[in-house]
Amino acid sequence: MTDPALRTRKVEVLTEEEAGRELAALAAEIAHHDEAYHRQDAPEISDAEYDALVRRNRAIEARFPALLREDSPTRRVGAAAAEGFAKLRHGVPMLSLDNGFGDDDFREFLASIRRFLKLAPEEALAFVGEPKIDGLSVNLTYEDGRFVRGATRGDGAVGEDVTRNLLTLQDLPKHLPAPFPARIEIRGEVFCDKADFLAFRAQQQAAAAEREERRARGEKVGPAITIPVNPRNFAAGSLRQLDPGITARRPLKLFAYAMGEASEQPAETHWTWLERLRGWGFAVNPLSALLEGEEAALAFQRRMAETRADLAYDIDGVVYKLDRLDWQRRLGFVGRAPRWAIAWKFPAEQATTTLLDIEIQVGRTGALTPRAVMRPVGVGGVMVTHASLHNEDEIARKDVRIGDTVILQRAGDVIPQILGIVPERRPEGAQPFAFPDRCPVCGSHAVRPEGEVVRRCTGGLTCAAQTVERLIHFTRRNAMDIEGLGVENIQALFDAGLVRGPADIFRLARHEAEMRGWEGWGAKKIANLLAAIEARRQVPLERFIFALGIRRIGEANAKLLARHYHSFAEWRQRMVAATTIGSEAREELGSIQGIGPAIATELAEFFAEPHNRAALDDLAREVTPQDAEIAAAADSPFAGRTLVFTGTLGTMSRDEAEAQAERLGAKVTKSVSRKTDFVVVGADAGSKAAKAAELGVRVLTEAEWREMAGLG
Ligand code: IVH
Repeated sequence: MTDPALRTRKVEVLTEEEAGRELAALAAEIAHHDEAYHRQDAPEISDAEYDALVRRNRAIEARFPALLREDSPTRRVGAAAAEGFAKLRHGVPMLSLDNGFGDDDFREFLASIRRFLKLAPEEALAFVGEPKIDGLSVNLTYEDGRFVRGATRGDGAVGEDVTRNLLTLQDLPKHLPAPFPARIEIRGEVFCDKADFLAFRAQQQAAAAEREERRARGEKVGPAITIPVNPRNFAAGSLRQLDPGITARRPLKLFAYAMGEASEQPAETHWTWLERLRGWGFAVNPLSALLEGEEAALAFQRRMAETRADLAYDIDGVVYKLDRLDWQRRLGFVGRAPRWAIAWKFPAEQATTTLLDIEIQVGRTGALTPRAVMRPVGVGGVMVTHASLHNEDEIARKDVRIGDTVILQRAGDVIPQILGIVPERRPEGAQPFAFPDRCPVCGSHAVRPEGEVVRRCTGGLTCAAQTVERLIHFTRRNAMDIEGLGVENIQALFDAGLVRGPADIFRLARHEAEMRGWEGWGAKKIANLLAAIEARRQVPLERFIFALGIRRIGEANAKLLARHYHSFAEWRQRMVAATTIGSEAREELGSIQGIGPAIATELAEFFAEPHNRAALDDLAREVTPQDAEIAAAADSPFAGRTLVFTGTLGTMSRDEAEAQAERLGAKVTKSVSRKTDFVVVGADAGSKAAKAAELGVRVLTEAEWREMAGLG
């Protein structure tokens, strides 16, 4: 928050601590005005006022270079224009990859594929190895051989329509030479070479310096010049320009590497698929290699690690993809990552810096999380100022004290970690950190139950931090996705008393007049916000469940619940019933594949609290969660039915059978109850088969199951 007294002080007299606070406030303010100007077309301050903010930011950074922030306005690449693009739904979701870091992870990956597919030991596995470029993935749709549209990855299901920008890329074929499928999605990575990035950055730095000189001479200057931090950030900013003319002038490249939806399968192996891509005119990374067997695969990553420094572009690891596409299809994916591919990341980069402070943050479930505040340092291409310290035991175990020199590590995109300290460099008198036993926000006791590592604030919904964090979670992009309701606005609405719970967001229209009186809340901003809220009165059930922010109910579990219970009414009713330990509803919940008893307890505890039920019902009066779709064609005999597998199957692993059943729209559970529709019985089936007989549930042999599932 801006401190008016601080704002009027001359840069020359600021202390380091004041400068740090002021830079934080300026970063937030300038970001806000950038958004108002670029995205909402509704500037709230004059150009001169805006320039003064940017100038002050730059002057403070010049005096305290060590305080340069990751989100500093001087580093941002263009104003990202997310809201300026139409949304496009991908034909099939764009997945991410699970990461492995060592040879053992890779061996386990091989073993899991063998187990899933029930492969005989003599059956060889071939992979394609590809360098993993840290760029921006895109989905390119071709219809009748013509490029018709392209999108960014977005949240994996829906991306931004950047068709016009993609058309400016030289590497992108506009037409495919025949033969081609009637419709196909091609996926790849947009990136830029290191040299191009450095040249662009140098050019921007020179332009910024020149602008600064002009400004110092009292001449009129244009908007602030942004300087990209790394090639990825530069590529992303360049592709997401509202004006494709700007994208056209940026040196962007494209490597194609994957397939999305296709009207017919254009290849039988990934390797031949890459050849087809080349034949259609796509650039395919020439370092990609077909690798037969484990040793060849492991040698590939060593080779890439050695070549890495000589490459024109940055790579952060390699990707292994199982070559046979029929096996890829059988393996499918779990959560957001395929079972048939893995990313192997290069070992992380390290750096040392000073620990300036340990802040305590309060999360939406009341967890007190310590966060390290450090003197800014570059690690693996980005400036780092903060790192999580996880919990109080971690601080004690590593004996981290304020003033210590800490060793930092960044592995891939992972948030930086503090590995340890350099004991010889501990300043005299440094004291062990005393973890607070009260919530720093509401002052309630913070307690740590026996056997748990996390200390939690007991203030519940009376704690402002928890309430605000819940609201922030609720509106997030992968939750309710309310555009324009960012952290700052939520805080402002909370502070003004207009929003205390999620349902209040949907009643904001009543307070329009009041909001109009607030500084910086123009009519246009309010109108956009209210429209964005209205647009979310109907959301898929899984998003709704995830948005509630119940502990341990992440996106994957929310999806499982939505698919299992189908409608909001059913889910709510069954969750309340499940609050009784030992009830049929509780058993059912705990036996959903992927949920399990611990998560069932968490849900039951949430529903046992009257204030949670009240908040939920209040919300359900404003928002209508839409029934979950049954995943597969309704003509599958298993769509919407509950299935249990028991015993050993002869032709496929249990994991594959369960995944297959889910693809056909079935709910797979672990225990047999009156709600079970089918029990598939393999060899040596025990009590579950007996229970099925007792309850009169239909029992299928493996052959019958294969027949009904269309597996022949
Ligand atoms: S395949 C299931 N291949 O890495 C298919 N991804 O961590 C998933 N990436 O979002 C993508 N090089 O942005 C694939 N040769 C490559 C890649 C690659 C870079 C990126 C891509 C993806 C992310 C997943």
